[in-house]
Amino acid sequence: MLIVLSVGGSILAKELKPDSFLVYAGALKELAKEHDLVVVTGGGVAARDYISVARSAGANEVECDYIGIDITRLNARLLISALGDAAYPEPPKDYKQAQEVLSSGKIIVMGGVIPGQTTDAVAAILTEYLRADMLVIATAVDGVYSADPRKDPKAVKYETMSAKQLVNTVMTTEMKAGSKSPVDPLAAKIIERCNIETIVMEGSDPQNVLRAISEEKDRSGEIKGVYLGTRIVGQ
Ligand code: UTP
Repeated sequence: MLIVLSVGGSILAKELKPDSFLVYAGALKELAKEHDLVVVTGGGVAARDYISVARSAGANEVECDYIGIDITRLNARLLISALGDAAYPEPPKDYKQAQEVLSSGKIIVMGGVIPGQTTDAVAAILTEYLRADMLVIATAVDGVYSADPRKDPKAVKYETMSAKQLVNTVMTTEMKAGSKSPVDPLAAKIIERCNIETIVMEGSDPQNVLRAISEEKDRSGEIKGVYLGTRIVGQ
């Protein structure tokens, strides 16, 4: 299978330490024995810090987005360093470059592409463009909730939802550079438009990501793993 994995900077670079990159790299190498992999890295706290300073210094939202993109690409480079020979050495700068280097047989790692979106959208667009079999969004929250669980105690987690439900749930998210939601609204629209099989899950332990993928592959229509966040199935 060809799998596109969006790894949030909030889990990969929660603190800027080599270990989190090395542990992820180890799991990705395991996964790459069975699957082709394209990994999109997020910017995490560093992106938000840089964006906040830039905004206060007078940058507009597009300028802030470009700063965010740079940070996501730095995280891609750190993951490439941790992967060594298993990774394609350069993060592709756009979707076409990603397609061109796919035949290298290496793990492709890249960051953001253009302003106005997050790396979830990059991953969703890549999934469609590269005709990948599955999109996995590994993030700091354990799935998609009916409302923000930090603000609404009645919020419930969806185990399975349609892409349309996902769109309706995330559409209220602010579109500012650096804003937070489990899946960005553009990514949700792409998932809906292209009917992409998607898992949104808490990904701080990459072994859980591996388990979720193998379980999804052998799926009997039943959700078994507690580590599995939300499955987006059907339009
Ligand atoms: P992220 O994808 O990291 O956003 O991009 P995030 O939702 O904060 O994800 P986590 O925290 O890593 O899980 C960081 C910022 O970079 C810009 C946006 O401003 C985004 O908020 N960006 C990223 C773009 O403008 N275009 C891209 O293609 C990617």
